[in-house]
Amino acid sequence: MDYDYKTGFITYPDAEPGSPGAKAPYIDHGTARIDPKRFYSAEEAALEWEHMWTKSWFFVGLAHDVAEVGDWFRADMGKESFIIVRNGSGDEGIAAYFNVCPHRGNRIVHSDFGSTGAGSCFQCDFHGWKFGLDGKNVDIRDEFIFRPEAVAHRPGLKQVRCEVWNSLVFISMVPDGKSLLEHLEIIPEHLAPYPFEKYKVIKDIETCWGANWKTSLDAFVEFYHADDVHPQVAPFTETVGCQYDLYANGNSRMLIPVGYVPLRYEDRDTVTEGLKAFLQFFGGNPDDYAHLKGHEYRSALAEVRRKWADRHGYAHFADLTDDQVNDDWNYYVFPNITLNVFSDALLIQAFRPHETDPRKSYYRAISLCLPVGGTQDMVMDPGQFGPDAVSEPGWDGSVRPEITHPETLEEFGSVLAQDAVRVPEIQKGIESAAFEGYVLSESESRIRHYLAEIDRMIGRG
Ligand code: FES
Ligand SMILES: [Fe+2]
Repeated sequence: MDYDYKTGFITYPDAEPGSPGAKAPYIDHGTARIDPKRFYSAEEAALEWEHMWTKSWFFVGLAHDVAEVGDWFRADMGKESFIIVRNGSGDEGIAAYFNVCPHRGNRIVHSDFGSTGAGSCFQCDFHGWKFGLDGKNVDIRDEFIFRPEAVAHRPGLKQVRCEVWNSLVFISMVPDGKSLLEHLEIIPEHLAPYPFEKYKVIKDIETCWGANWKTSLDAFVEFYHADDVHPQVAPFTETVGCQYDLYANGNSRMLIPVGYVPLRYEDRDTVTEGLKAFLQFFGGNPDDYAHLKGHEYRSALAEVRRKWADRHGYAHFADLTDDQVNDDWNYYVFPNITLNVFSDALLIQAFRPHETDPRKSYYRAISLCLPVGGTQDMVMDPGQFGPDAVSEPGWDGSVRPEITHPETLEEFGSVLAQDAVRVPEIQKGIESAAFEGYVLSESESRIRHYLAEIDRMIGRG
């Protein structure tokens, strides 16, 4: 294949410069190997915590989960824990506090989700202090036993900044500084047509892995591993010819074309059975497209998927290009999430460091789909992405599943299980005396890019 590393693959050669599908300018991060200590040393983890995690916006959850005043969810990050609660209307009506009682330090909430009820308040379960939805102290049990000057400052919950973009909630422990939108930079413009508030959670899993958070993340920001790890997607998904783009603030993306016989195949004319099955899943009939060759099949898929959207009343498809209708636009929002953005589904993968051990981390995968209630159609979990990943007919998204903690690989779903089994194995190899550091291709440039952003924040390099 012809390949110029500064150009890489251009997924949409006809994309207008500056349009969402266009290739970003090349950023040269060199070819040096990456120091393996970054993936296990306690000193490195401490530097990341001090200069990066406590200084950056990071994703904590979905606005879906705080729909009513008093609804809250808990979000942990490293040694810290936060409460995100709705106390008003709109995106501004969501606030975040450290999940720490100012009396003796007890955690205020312990479960993943809950609700205080409108007009109610949080109550600490150690000595019963109460805090309003604005974080202010509203009651100190038996206050007369305190000398007045000890509680004159009315100790309340400590607030952190909280902002929402397209139903995704982010917080920052920095009291001022750049806004979330400044941090996201070009991403909101690219993803403006996707109404994430309409996508509903179909699966939500979290697990603790025996691997550094970056070891885990690195398995999800390149598609170079797809042929070996996910062979079942190859009959309808591009694996080598993906476009990789690097953006400001450590953000990046890859564009993964879906719905044709990929470049890797010698015979790109014959329509694979996998492609036909994909078309049928969205209600198409392969006989209607018998004139198309395998490499032309994306036009058939786009047509069938637009009809699917019309049947279900999803008007945003009119604002999507055929490329967006078909493909997997995979964004990395520095530092802690990847978004696999589809016209009808969204996979959010979140990575966070373990509270004490740099050799462990937490991995969460939230799968969301556009509901198909009132029909016989099914939806496909984007975390599995295959024929075994379909819902029951007429899935309406009305039941928000709990966050579950898989104990077996099967519970991850077929695609994610293939990654899950490898991540701890990679960590072991990284820590071997034999390993001299990642040797990275240009298809793995997103790894260099976010590591360079961490270096910048730490003040190195
Ligand atoms: S620790 Fe919360 S009321 Fe005592
Ligand atoms: Fe993977």
